[in-house]
Amino acid sequence: MLKNKKIVYFCQECGYESTKWMGQCPGCKAWNTFVEEAVSPKKSSGSGKSQEKRQEPVMLKDINLTEDERQTCGIGELDRVLGGGIVPGSLVLVGGDPGIGKSTLLLQVCRNLAQKDVSVLYISGEESLRQIKLRANRIGDFTDKLQLLCETNLEAIREIIERKKPDVAVVDSIQTMFHEDISSAPGSVSQVRESTNVLMQIAKGMGVSIFIVGHVTKEGNVAGPRVLEHMVDTVLYFEGDRHASYRILRAVKNRFGSTNEIGVFEMRNIGLEEVKNPSEFMLNGRPKDASGSVVACSMEGTRPILVEIQALICQSNFGIPRRTAVGTDFNRVNLLMAVLERKVGVHLASSDAYVNIAGGMKMTEPAIDLGICLAIVSSFKDIVIPDTVMAFGEIGLSGEVRAVSMAGQRVQEAKKLGFETVILPEVCKSSVEKTQGIRLVYVSQVQDAISYIMKHG
Ligand code: TYD
Ligand code: MG
Repeated sequence: MLKNKKIVYFCQECGYESTKWMGQCPGCKAWNTFVEEAVSPKKSSGSGKSQEKRQEPVMLKDINLTEDERQTCGIGELDRVLGGGIVPGSLVLVGGDPGIGKSTLLLQVCRNLAQKDVSVLYISGEESLRQIKLRANRIGDFTDKLQLLCETNLEAIREIIERKKPDVAVVDSIQTMFHEDISSAPGSVSQVRESTNVLMQIAKGMGVSIFIVGHVTKEGNVAGPRVLEHMVDTVLYFEGDRHASYRILRAVKNRFGSTNEIGVFEMRNIGLEEVKNPSEFMLNGRPKDASGSVVACSMEGTRPILVEIQALICQSNFGIPRRTAVGTDFNRVNLLMAVLERKVGVHLASSDAYVNIAGGMKMTEPAIDLGICLAIVSSFKDIVIPDTVMAFGEIGLSGEVRAVSMAGQRVQEAKKLGFETVILPEVCKSSVEKTQGIRLVYVSQVQDAISYIMKHG
């Protein structure tokens, strides 16, 4: 029996395969991620099923696109992240920490689709029918186009999908699914891979759109969705602070759309609700007349999002000052502080600095550089920047304020939210139209922006 089994080692992080155990994965350089798994050689050397039906080549012009029309799921934020709706026959992976709201989101998708007369099959390997019903009761009314199934055996799932022919199926979660041919436990790399393979054959072969839920785990025996990323069409990550109520859906890979779009949701007691205007949501509860705070703007895909940047500068008690950055790149903050020190003459060398993006958002676009600098100077010099001022612009090493993309849209967003002044790069002048009711302050050096707030703060 054992002779038929081959022992191989898989990296839990990236799926790297090796015949012997290694401390560090050569693929992703993670430490201590290799786990032993027994695979039957027959299975690993080709999937057999692909030979049953041989395909003939077809001409590109003969491929009919009309049947590939996207299906909108009634949740605008998700549709946008998907690139305009669900593509028939696509395989979408929704990853995220346990408890973040993946099942809730997909159940809501199922509900909306079922109401539009799309036949939907929700397969759960984690919860009982009763538990799903309890969740469904919180979300709202359901129609009978939604079918539920509690099953973890993939052959059974394949058989049911072939029989019921749903348009959309949800598999919650991939870590609970298992394939009889593979001896290792559900959740192991080979099980997760083989299960995804089977789901892919179903999706492509029958034109069923399948959503796969995958829990992200940092360690432990369950294979994270990272090993599946290359197999599926679209990878969405659902993230957010478990303590804050909002959640962000981000596309990391999308064969049918852009990957910089994000969708913002709020977790309520009736399920997830779309946040149509994230800027307003992020700026909620901003302190008035406090130094060290300024509003900046970052583009997330096609949408400008305004966030409050906070900085706290205080006298350092030790020889080496402490620097912390929450929600943005730590090295970038250090770089900007060096620019302020050298080019503007703000002496931060003996000060601790804490920079934070309020609301728990993570932003790395260089357009928030100017905001970070202004917040630091505002805290250091204890000047209040009026809460009607917004600033954006990338800062270079010689203290110059550089151009950023889509300046006009950022200005429009500020205007929509009632800001009166926008500090922006001089070089963006040609791309921004004069707008009534908002003052545009063009700066070419970070020093100019600082002088402006010193005068008007
Ligand atoms: P869930 O969708 O089960 O997470 P996942 O599938 O990603 O593991 O989300 C569960 C969390 O969401 C749980 O802590 C309860 C909370 N929740 C609400 O706050 N409101 C609701 O209406 C629902 C259904 C869940
Ligand atoms: Mg779940």
